[in-house]
Amino acid sequence: MKILGVETSCDETGVAIVENGQKILANVLSTSVALHQKYGGIVPEIAAREQIKVIMPAIDQALSEAAGAPDDLKAVAVTAGPGLVGSLLVGIETAKTIATVWRKPLIPVNHLAGHIYANWLAPNSSLAKFPLVGLVVSGGHTDLVLMANHGKFKWLGGTRDDAGGEAFDKVARLLGLGYPGGPEIESQAEKGNPEAFNLPRPMIDSADFDFSFSGLKTAVVNLVKTTNHRPLPISDIAASFQSAIVEVLVTKTIRAAKKYQAKEILVGGGVAANKQLRQNLKKMSPVNVRFPTIPLSIDNGAMIAVAAYYNFKPKPAAKIQAEPGLFFEL
Ligand code: KG4
Ligand code: ZN
Repeated sequence: MKILGVETSCDETGVAIVENGQKILANVLSTSVALHQKYGGIVPEIAAREQIKVIMPAIDQALSEAAGAPDDLKAVAVTAGPGLVGSLLVGIETAKTIATVWRKPLIPVNHLAGHIYANWLAPNSSLAKFPLVGLVVSGGHTDLVLMANHGKFKWLGGTRDDAGGEAFDKVARLLGLGYPGGPEIESQAEKGNPEAFNLPRPMIDSADFDFSFSGLKTAVVNLVKTTNHRPLPISDIAASFQSAIVEVLVTKTIRAAKKYQAKEILVGGGVAANKQLRQNLKKMSPVNVRFPTIPLSIDNGAMIAVAAYYNFKPKPAAKIQAEPGLFFEL
């Protein structure tokens, strides 16, 4: 069964064709990140305008990469939310149009669930075992969920302020590094000493599964203001910040896995690309930990097609709307 997945929740336009929820036949990704770099963050209007330009060519390219015709597809899947409303609308209206013209069922998908489902795309791996704990950590979200089965999510906790990726982006901007900040901080951190500065690990001991990263960001602001070191020890600050945020994410995720007797931990979202997070979580976890490959950790159409495969719930086009604030359910 081949499903075409469309993802336009933020700046990326992802279109992929996935067979039987695992085999990627085509995966086209177009990003407008370069257009946003000078603003230090995503400008929603610019993102949506760019998506209007690239979405149809991306669909054509996906079909030709998969050497397929629309007739081969079982369904079209599209991100319904959460995300930027203008961007979501571009994907949703396009998906509605092609599904109608091609006479295919249309399946709305929750973007957050999609990030967890990216883990089913690893070739030659066994299927994940339930119950599992999912950590979605991206530019817009930091959520811990318990997944009892396909489509059965229980939200355990999330950030009360900045998302994990947002904290990376803000600290990078403060240090004069580029956007997106995660990869920039990561490469600076490789040259720095993670113990150079003792930064807070907010909420690491709280009994709940919530996070708070704005205090950590403020601690970096204060450090930059008060330090006498000149030039600013950017790599030491980056390494100290990265190790603080990773320690909080790892500690709380493992605590959730233990409490709910999870058989596995699955991570997704842009921050899942972070090598220290990957290494530390794998090293410390008592259960199997999965991460998508780095390109599949960021937004893409393939994860949307997989989520739709395991949750095959088509809806009439008229009932599908952009849901910018959609939470954890499919
Ligand atoms: O999932 P994603 O592509 O888009 C959203 O849905 O938000 O995540 C983007 C976020 C950005 O904040 C970016 O700085 C962060 O993921 N990110 C990273 C790394 N690569 C991307 N954060 C830490 N380390 C990385 N290697
Ligand atoms: Zn995302």
